[in-house]
Amino acid sequence: MAHTGIFITFEGIDGAGKSSHLDALTAAFRAQGRAVTVTREPGGTALAEQLRELVLNAPMDGLTEALLVFAARRDHVCQVIRPAMARGEVVVCDRFSDSTFAYQGGGQGLSLPVLSQLERWVQAGTETPDAALLQPDLTLWFDLPPLEAARRLEQARAPDRFEARGVDFFARVRQAYADRVQGDPQRFVSIDAAAQREQVWQQVAQAVRARGWLP
Ligand code: TYD
Repeated sequence: MAHTGIFITFEGIDGAGKSSHLDALTAAFRAQGRAVTVTREPGGTALAEQLRELVLNAPMDGLTEALLVFAARRDHVCQVIRPAMARGEVVVCDRFSDSTFAYQGGGQGLSLPVLSQLERWVQAGTETPDAALLQPDLTLWFDLPPLEAARRLEQARAPDRFEARGVDFFARVRQAYADRVQGDPQRFVSIDAAAQREQVWQQVAQAVRARGWLP
């Protein structure tokens, strides 16, 4: 049976605990016989993974970060996401443009209209001015208070450039996510990531079942 492609993204501040649920959701789709492309941003192609190394490790200003993550995204959209969607696959992506609006916009204070313009170039292309903007069909926002996220990260690993930023930075990132959710309530489902792991999974599964994508 031919399927329509489904594009699902996972978002949230560092330490919100997206990864294990992303794996579980992938397994749930595969158990139904669906082909799933699992990917991440920045990253997902050889070029984009190289850009990821730079963005995560080399000191740079916020606009440079935004330009690099959008460059990585352009390659990822063209090489991986659009082709997988065209094959009717489920694309499960750890972070996408909402991260840029949250981290570089909210966290670093970059202009949101500038980011929106980059988003148009990257996710619709410049060739046809009215081409449709590629957006996720569903975005799961793992919401967790920044103090709790910091506490979880402390126990986990050495921080990268982003994770090393303070609680104030993450409070701005969280607020920017909340604004994105408010601006596009159909696309987002907010997940209470402070709940017990099993309850977090139930929220994720419910969001996907509600769309009729899993039984
Ligand atoms: P993530 O993959 O969640 O990190 P990890 O592999 O350590 O769990 O995200 C990498 C970092 O990149 C994260 O701190 C958020 C940041 N980021 C941005 O600042 N802007 C972006 O557009 C994206 C996609 C990520």
